Parts: sequence; structure tokens; C-alpha cells
Amino acid sequence: MRTRWLAVLLPVVSGFQLPFKLPFFNQSGQQTLQQPPADSKPRIAIIGAGAGGSSAAFWISKAKERFGVDVEVDVYEKESYIGGRACSTTVFPYGNSSLPPVELGASIFVKVNKNMWRAADEFNLTRLNFRDDDQGMGVWDGEKLLFATTGGWWGWWDNAKALLRYGFHSPRRTQALVDTMVNKFQSLYAPEVPRWQNISHLSSILGWDELVSQTTSEYLLSNGVSNKFISELVEGATRVNYGQNADELHALEGACSLAATGASAVEGGNFRIFENFLKQANVFLNTSVKSVSQTGTNKWALESDRGAEIYTAVILAAPFHSTQLQVPSDISSQIPPQPYVHLHVTLLTTTQPSFPAQSFSLPPSTKVPGMLLTTFEGARNGGKQPEFNSMSYHGLISEGEWVVKIFSKKRISDKWLSKMFDGQVGWVLRKEWDAYPVLPPSSEFPPTKLAPGFYYVNSFEPFISTMETEALASRNVVDMLLHESFESGICGPVGTPLNDTDKEDFVYGWDC
Ligand SMILES: Cc1cc2nc3c(=O)[nH]c(=O)nc-3n(C[C@H](O)[C@H](O)[C@H](O)COP(=O)(O)OP(=O)(O)OC[C@H]3O[C@@H](n4cnc5c(N)ncnc54)[C@H](O)[C@@H]3O)c2cc1C
Ligand SMILES: *[C@@H]1O[C@H](CO)[C@@H](O)[C@H](O)[C@H]1NC(C)=O
Ligand SMILES: *[C@@H]1O[C@H](CO)[C@@H](O)[C@H](O)[C@H]1NC(C)=O
Ligand SMILES: *[C@@H]1O[C@H](CO)[C@@H](O)[C@H](O)[C@H]1NC(C)=O
Ligand SMILES: *[C@@H]1O[C@H](CO)[C@@H](O)[C@H](O)[C@H]1NC(C)=O
Ligand SMILES: *[C@@H]1O[C@H](CO)[C@@H](O)[C@H](O)[C@H]1NC(C)=O
Ligand SMILES: *[C@@H]1O[C@H](CO)[C@@H](O)[C@H](O)[C@H]1NC(C)=O
Repeated sequence: MRTRWLAVLLPVVSGFQLPFKLPFFNQSGQQTLQQPPADSKPRIAIIGAGAGGSSAAFWISKAKERFGVDVEVDVYEKESYIGGRACSTTVFPYGNSSLPPVELGASIFVKVNKNMWRAADEFNLTRLNFRDDDQGMGVWDGEKLLFATTGGWWGWWDNAKALLRYGFHSPRRTQALVDTMVNKFQSLYAPEVPRWQNISHLSSILGWDELVSQTTSEYLLSNGVSNKFISELVEGATRVNYGQNADELHALEGACSLAATGASAVEGGNFRIFENFLKQANVFLNTSVKSVSQTGTNKWALESDRGAEIYTAVILAAPFHSTQLQVPSDISSQIPPQPYVHLHVTLLTTTQPSFPAQSFSLPPSTKVPGMLLTTFEGARNGGKQPEFNSMSYHGLISEGEWVVKIFSKKRISDKWLSKMFDGQVGWVLRKEWDAYPVLPPSSEFPPTKLAPGFYYVNSFEPFISTMETEALASRNVVDMLLHESFESGICGPVGTPLNDTDKEDFVYGWDC
């Protein structure tokens, strides 16, 4: 077994030891590059240290560790922190680090997100269950609270009140459709993992063309789910997760919004996973990449705040239009403009133990649920728009003081906050994000491979945008890159027998 292994690997390994020749380039306006010593290693540049970029570095480190793929990895990050849209390092109420930190960006992942789940285990990070069981969930339409539970959002399928309002079939059919999607999703971790050249290809492999080509509402209606259920509960989920209405968002992302079983977060912040992913890489923070251009055959010149460098391959792990990156026009022309949802996140503390009932025109004795979702249905019928996408209590920070998180399309004013909480507002922090792509039904996606040796992780985002799927997208990209440039993937050269495939919770890339 071992010798067979060596026979497979030897040609690959010696391939890496060939002198690594760099074409000399000396264009006007660009720095002259020194010819590196002949024994220098091949190098890969990753642009962005969020979920996508950090996991890309991690997948490469796995190939290094297992097969001795000898390559240097440089990660460029324009901000001063790791994690991108899943940052949280410094968000403490009142800036007081003795208080529990709050996620300002991406906050949850679920059990079927096997890379995030596994990473938390392997890096000995504590997973916190994200349950809002005690505080209940309600749906606000801008004028009235339409529906409220005391039991909580994550168990709402079983809720008797829901049964009464929405009947039996709509919740059951919706759940069956979500389960089917989730089961298919699991094939992305199997030993016979699908490999995709582009997202349309993946969509057809998974049989999801029907989901991405329709809105969530269209898809559910055609599957016999009632309009009331869609516009209230499903839309509540699409609006809190993606800031978009059920009749706007495609049905794949709509289904992802509803797959919330086992919602968890890493204690101290999800970014800790990404920090661990980057342990083997050279990370350059505060370093913006300005341009990427081809130089000679299959070599890429990258210009950044630290000067010009040459790489065998470049992985772009940020939304292209947010990077201000200059690339050759034959590459930029392949990437269609991608609008993002501009989201306002407002964190605050209050001494109100729950949302005051009078703020929702309810009798003073009413207990308003601690998690408020919203529907656009009132506005569709000529009513007022909800002022926020979601608003929820996030626990105590000290005796008698709670943290509340609000997602909204527009800035939430101090005046509005003061009115909502009857003057009892302590600390307030606001952050704006280009949070996730605007995700209408689509059949066209940006390319995953922009040119030989130049790959685009975030082409996945208009399909599904989560931390987990960015890690999956980068796994596919790294596997493709390593096969193309180094003749070995994350789990070895093509045809390598995988180990541990009988393992109960086999995860491709981690187990092999
Ligand atoms: C408020 C909010 C809540 C969310 N909730 C969830 C959730 O609960 N669960 C979930 O899974 N997902 C959630 N998401 C989505 C999730 O955050 C993203 O899908 C995911 O983090 C994207 O990761 P990424 O690495 O692809 O991109 P990013 O995190 O955006 O990382 C890209 C990085 O590239 C850097 N960069 C950009 N241009 C350059 C350049 N020219 N040079 C160098 N560096 C550059 C950026 O600074 C950034 O750090 C949420 C997002 C937001 C904003
Ligand atoms: C590179 O360009 C500079 C400035 O144009 C020039 O002085 C230098 O001689 C060039 N180097 C080579 C090796 O051509
Ligand atoms: C990045 O810049 C910030 C702000 O200018 C600074 O505080 C921080 O120390 C810098 N970090 C690194 C790693 O250079
Ligand atoms: C920070 O919070 C702790 C715990 O509640 C408290 O004891 C301390 O006084 C706070 N520090 C400041 C500077 O407010
Ligand atoms: C996690 O903990 C286990 C058991 O204590 C230990 O063997 C392992 O090295 C730890 N891993 C990391 C990444 O710290
Ligand atoms: C996507 O990949 C498939 C399979 O490799 C290929 O047949 C198809 O032409 C590609 N489509 C696009 C738009 O590149
Ligand atoms: C399988 O295990 C052997 C022995 O530990 C190891 O050398 C090999 O790299 C593993 N294969 C894969 C695909 O990880």
C-alpha cells in the first residue's frame, strides 16, 4: 500500500522541485521584479481573509500536510482583521471586554454545515447552541403583530399555534422541500464529491435548476404551500437571513433560510475558526491588492500595498466589485455586475427586559416575543413597511441590562430607538455592510475559473451566500487549482484511494 502510494506521488513531488522560472517583467508603472533564486517555491496568492480566503489557505495546508505539496501561501487582507463579514473581534457592549462579545456580522451556522461544525471541533472551540426557545418569536408587518409564539423560532414546525393559523399541509410540505434540499447538500461532503467547473454545472449536478430559477414564493406556491404561510413565516426567514422578500429571493436561498436545525455559533466569535484556518499561511493584514495581471505563461503578477509579487496562481476570495481590483478586461468582462444588499446592523443595550408592548400598539400586559421577524405583506397591500428586517434580544450583559440586535434597510435613528424602548437605551453601535448578494432567480453565474491559474471563490455567493458555502466553494477551487498546477488535489492525485470513507461522519477534505 505504502509503496503504491509512493509510485503515485513521486512524479508529482519531483515536479515541485523543478527550478521555478519566473518570466521577467518590466512594464511601465510597475515595479521591476527580481528573479527569485532558482530553488524558490511555487507560490499562491489569496485575496481576502474572510470565510472563503481563510478556508482556501486551510485546504492548501491540508494538501501540504498530506502529500508534501510544496507551495507558499500568501493571504492579502485589506482590513486590519481576519474574518471579513464574519468579524467580531472587538464588539463588546460599551467597549468593555469584560462583557460578553456580540457578533456584528455572520452569526450562525447549522449542523449540516459540516466544515464549520468540524472546524469548531478540531480547533477545540466551544460551540454555543443558538436557541431562542425561551423568548418566543413574532411576525411584525409594520402595523400589527400577526403571529406570536412563546415557544420559539427553531421549533416552530411543531407549534400548535402555527398549526391553527397555517394548517397542517403548508408547514409539512415546506419542511419536506427543505429536507430534500438539505439531503442533496450533504452530497457535497461525500467521498464521491461532485467537482464543478462553474455554478451552473453544480446546480445541474445537484438538480437545483428548478430552485434557482424561481422565487421562493413561486416555488412554494407551486408545491401547494399557502400564501399566508409563505408571506408570514417563510418571508420572516428570508428577510432576517438575506434582507429580501420571498417573492424576490430565489428558492434555493429561500430554502437555506429555513434550514436552521442545530443553529450554533463559536464562543468568542466565529472568526476564531478563520484564524485557525490561517495558521499555516503568511497573512498580510492592512494590505490591499490593487491589480492582478498575467505575466508570461501561467504566471500572475500581483500589485499590493507591499509591492509587486509573482505567483503561480491567484485565488480571489472577495466579491469582485467590492475589491476595486484591476484585472485584464477579458477577465473583468466575464464577471457580471453583482448588487449587494446594503444592511444596517444596530446593536444596543436596554434595561427593558422585553420589547415594550405599547411600542407595538398592544395592551401593556402583553409579553412581546424576544425575536421579531417581519413580513412585507402589509406593504404589498398598501400598508406601512416594517422599519426593520428583524429585531431580537441577544441575552443579558449584566444584571438588568440586555443586548438587542436590529437588522434594517435604513439607518435606525436614536429617536426611533428611544421611542421603541421608552427612553431606556444605553450603548448603541451601528455598522453597515454590503451583506449578501441580491439574489433573484437566475440561471447565470460568474465563472469559478477566471483564467488558467486565476480562480474566483465568490462566484458561489449568488447561488448560496453563507460562511459554510464559501468554505465549500474554496475547497472546490483549491482542488481544481492543485490538480491543474500540481497534479494533486486536497485528497491526493486523481484516483487516490481515500481513507476513512466508512467513517460515520465522513467529511471530504477533512477525512479523505
Ligand atoms: C450582518 C450579516 C449577517 C450574516 N449572517 C450570516 C449567518 O448567520 N450565517 C452565515 O453563514 N452567513 C451569514 N452572513 C453571510 C456571510 O458573512 C458571508 O457569506 C461570508 O462571510 C462571506 O465570506 P467571504 O470570505 O466570501 O467574503 P468576506 O467575508 O467579505 O471576505 C472578503 C475579504 O476580502 C477583503 N478584501 C476585499 N477587497 C480586497 C482587496 N482588494 N485586497 C485585499 N483584501 C480585500 C475584505 O476586506 C474581506 O475581509 C451574514 C453577513 C452579514 C453581513
Ligand atoms: C526596467 O525599467 C526601468 C525603467 O523603465 C529601466 O531603467 C530598467 O533598465 C529596466 N530593466 C530591465 C531589466 O529591462
Ligand atoms: C493595521 O492598521 C490599524 C489601523 O491603522 C492598526 O491599528 C493595526 O496595528 C495595523 N495592523 C497591522 C497588522 O499592521
Ligand atoms: C466592565 O464590565 C464589568 C462587568 O460587568 C464591570 O465590573 C466593570 O466595571 C466594567 N468596566 C467599565 C470600565 O465600565
Ligand atoms: C484539541 O484538544 C485535543 C485533546 O485535548 C488535543 O489532542 C488537540 O491537539 C487539540 N487541538 C488543537 C488544535 O488545539
Ligand atoms: C460549465 O461547466 C460545464 C461542465 O464543465 C460546461 O459544459 C459548460 O459549458 C460550462 N458553462 C459555462 C457557462 O462556462
Ligand atoms: C491515508 O492514510 C495514509 C496513512 O496514514 C496516508 O499516508 C495517506 O496520505 C492518506 N490518504 C489520504 C487521501 O489522505
